[in-house]
Amino acid sequence: MRITILTLFPGYFASPLTESLLGRAIASGLVAVEVRDLRDFARDRHRKADDEPYGGGPGMVMLAPVVADAIEACRGEPPARRVLLTPDGARLDQSAVERLAAHERLLLVCGRYEGIDERVRELGLFDEEVSIGDFVLSGGEAAALVLVEALSRRVPGVVGRAESVERESFVRDRLDYPHYTRPREFRGLAVPEVLLSGDHAAIERWRRARALERTRARRPDLLARRPPEDGEADG
Ligand code: 6GU
Repeated sequence: MRITILTLFPGYFASPLTESLLGRAIASGLVAVEVRDLRDFARDRHRKADDEPYGGGPGMVMLAPVVADAIEACRGEPPARRVLLTPDGARLDQSAVERLAAHERLLLVCGRYEGIDERVRELGLFDEEVSIGDFVLSGGEAAALVLVEALSRRVPGVVGRAESVERESFVRDRLDYPHYTRPREFRGLAVPEVLLSGDHAAIERWRRARALERTRARRPDLLARRPPEDGEADG
């Protein structure tokens, strides 16, 4: 998977792309991430990339020629899926992540909160627009990082096989079950007995039941998407 990020703030991405699972995925070549500065596509010596909105109002609007040239400069083979990160986009969820992860190349354009000149959209330079939730960020950079991390987890080899395959069917449309580690007792609280039993089938039943319970209590909307199966509540 090859991802290009177009941003006014390339420095923003420096450390997150070197840490943890994502850092390893990039270091090992499973995922390639290139960050390009939108200002490099500015036409004037001040490298101006935004201006005041026609009609007035707060904030700045990203310049159409700069964004359009930047997107067009990223043409390649195979063509990248061109995604604008914006609060007006379709809300990201795991199924959108999986759909996007099927593309070998992705171009993520970080909009600033106030927006980009609408004519970039009118020209059809975005294949889709994505938001990461119903709240406001100052720009698409944090959202792009969220997307890169979620996408990289879908690339074979990035996440250990045991985790990906097992959790896939288990976890879909359910919240996680509770986790415990040493010590066996902490401030008078014991670890649930079944987890110490060595009975893997019983442990699996218990975990499924706890996950279902927690989903019912906190996210009943997820149950509507995948209703409980027989036996899921047992344990
Ligand atoms: Cl993608 N951008 C901005 N500016 N705010 C957001 C967002 C994106 N997703 C949620 N809020």
